[in-house]
Amino acid sequence: MTTTIIRTIEELRKTVSRWRSMGGRVAVVPTMGALHEGHLSLVRAALAGTDWVIVTLFVNPRQFNSADDLTTYPRTENEDLAKIETTGAHVLYAPNLEDMYPPGFATTVQVGGVSQGLCGSHREGHFDAVATIVTKLFLQTGADIAYLGEKDFQQLHVVRRLAHDLDIPIEVVACPTIRDADGMAMSSRNTRLSAEERKIASHLPTILFETAKKLSGGLEPREAIAEAQQRLRTAGFAGVDYLELRSEAELSSLDQLDRPARLLGAATVGGTRLIDNVAVKPLPKLATSG
Ligand code: PAF
Repeated sequence: MTTTIIRTIEELRKTVSRWRSMGGRVAVVPTMGALHEGHLSLVRAALAGTDWVIVTLFVNPRQFNSADDLTTYPRTENEDLAKIETTGAHVLYAPNLEDMYPPGFATTVQVGGVSQGLCGSHREGHFDAVATIVTKLFLQTGADIAYLGEKDFQQLHVVRRLAHDLDIPIEVVACPTIRDADGMAMSSRNTRLSAEERKIASHLPTILFETAKKLSGGLEPREAIAEAQQRLRTAGFAGVDYLELRSEAELSSLDQLDRPARLLGAATVGGTRLIDNVAVKPLPKLATSG
């Protein structure tokens, strides 16, 4: 099946209203392109769960923290389209910059709470820009369900929060992180790593998974995290932005593993900043007598 490329809001709205007149549910998979197996797994989940699937491709300049990161971000629209066609998604919506940010654009969606800390402390304005563009994409597509990856776990919380708080009638479905054979979470930025950097980078998931196991085995969170931070430095990471235990459901900081949690980390290798997170099973509740 061929995927139709749509570049304007008008054409997108016409297409979606035609679908609506035929019935069925509409999904959106927001992306910035440079698609890999992680993105394609979201598209496949969307195709399995709904009737009409829109993949969006927009490299949102406002969510980048450095001009360098933006200019070196991979742009591979033709390859992206070819990959999407293999899945059978119906539309690739690739709006241009002027349509997304017309002259005079002056609105920001700012999500409090879950945007704070973690990447929010290291990437000023990043989540405001993500929240604003995702809100626009949700309103432009009018989709019933959005599919997002757990790899960007804080982003997932930000998107859930904004949809709920702004009464956007969309369900946000989280899909598991897809990993390469060396354990690395798939990411468009991984292509920037040299072979040597990649070896160092692959310690991030290894250390996260091993630390999660130790935490679920009863090691005290403060101790487990200090040890993991030391291991990351020894492995060759130039810097560790954070390594934190947060609750799975609210993303609140945890100093006790008393509920389902996530261990989230961000670390830099060479000039590349990587993020990852893993689930941490809570400690079994002690039986109370009497
Ligand atoms: O995760 C991404 O690729 C982006 O942050 C998103 C959600 C497409 C918004 O630009």
